[in-house]
Amino acid sequence: MSTLKAVRGTRDLLPPETALWNRIEATARAVFARYNFGEIRTPVFEDTALFARGVGEETDIVSKEMYTWEDRARAQSEKTQSLTLRPENTAGVVRAYIEHQLGETGQLQKLYYIGPQFRRERPQKGRYRQFYQIGAEVLGPPSAGSESPLRDAEILEMLATLLDELGIAGWTLHLNSVGSAADRARYNDTLRAALSLVVSQMCVDCQRRAVTNPLRVLDCKVPADQPIIEALPVIAGSLDEASQAHFAAVTAALDAAGVPYTLNHRLVRGLDYYTRTTFEFTHGGLGAQNALLGGGRYDGLSEMLGGPKAPGIGFAIGLDRLVLTLQAQLGQESAPPQVADAFVAPLGESLNAASLVLARELRHKGLWIELGDGGFRLKKSFEAADKTARRIIILGEDELQSGILTVKTFSTGIQTKVPRAELAVFLSS
Ligand code: HAM
Repeated sequence: MSTLKAVRGTRDLLPPETALWNRIEATARAVFARYNFGEIRTPVFEDTALFARGVGEETDIVSKEMYTWEDRARAQSEKTQSLTLRPENTAGVVRAYIEHQLGETGQLQKLYYIGPQFRRERPQKGRYRQFYQIGAEVLGPPSAGSESPLRDAEILEMLATLLDELGIAGWTLHLNSVGSAADRARYNDTLRAALSLVVSQMCVDCQRRAVTNPLRVLDCKVPADQPIIEALPVIAGSLDEASQAHFAAVTAALDAAGVPYTLNHRLVRGLDYYTRTTFEFTHGGLGAQNALLGGGRYDGLSEMLGGPKAPGIGFAIGLDRLVLTLQAQLGQESAPPQVADAFVAPLGESLNAASLVLARELRHKGLWIELGDGGFRLKKSFEAADKTARRIIILGEDELQSGILTVKTFSTGIQTKVPRAELAVFLSS
């Protein structure tokens, strides 16, 4: 019989690698708490219409990459429904904001999430079909200050702090403004006109994009097209005064806080909901998939989903890519051997229950204990203990009766007799 394997583009995360995942998640939670964010958990599947309307029908994500199925009715009272595994979480957060009328509080909502996302992309290093994001969103009624450029700068400053605290060396913040919906419509016209003169010299993908979605031409990676793209009009030239002032205020606050950035007028992002500030943090060590995280402002998304006006800004970090970057940086250190404080070795099966009691006693005192088995010969217990713990505690009939235990420390080879009442203190030393 053929053996079953994890599906292409998905993978198992195993110890000790998961220790690094946990450390990153704990650091993110701690940083978000300092900026007064709370956690939101939304379902991993949603009504397909949420992504079609939120992310945009024309985007690669919605047109080619979603895991969508017809969920059959199980009763007369139910309807068949088209459902989709979430390809991203911003649309879900905004749906929850509308559904729970969070805008009624009059306060800014500052929400973060950690969880799996699903896209049917071609798998390669740093690109998976089930991947994980750590993201956050700040949104609320305009009266709560949700449109303020200070929100954008604060989010970017928080990201710089998080990456620095994680020890990610050498990140680059790419920053742009894609303007309001009206600015972008104007830019699309300008770009279409400019492209009509040069597109015949460009790659076939660009020839298609020039017609369907001219902004996507800016994502083209074909070397021969680059000089042509560099000569095209830039989006900054199509921003109205309000959008220009907003962006200038974002960069001024970043300058004041000392957060470095690179202006990148080609950064238009692959989701339709963006307005004004857009950004990505890249890292050179990642190869082709070099975006560690991406995000931006989405001032019209709530209305697109039938909700009240609720401007917002957010980001999502590719957790898989963060782990790859840290692993490359830390080398072997990223997988510290997991070693228990002690291994309890019962001498014979009749001492198994007493060993469980001893292990329980020590674990309740906060020690990290590996429990052997009385069915093991002593030699086998020693071998297992040497691989998993710093010390071995032998529990035989004599030790149980006398309350004096024999402890061997592997690093020194020294064997010590320790009274049971002093064992926890001895093992902590
Ligand atoms: P995104 O740029 O599509 O934005 O994804 C954010 C990050 O998720 C990427 O920079 C990358 O690190 C990671 N990522 C995306 N696809 C994959 C994949 N197939 N495998 C591994 N990692 C991947 C969003 O998802 C927006 N919701 C971000 C946002 C939040 N904008 C505003 N708020």
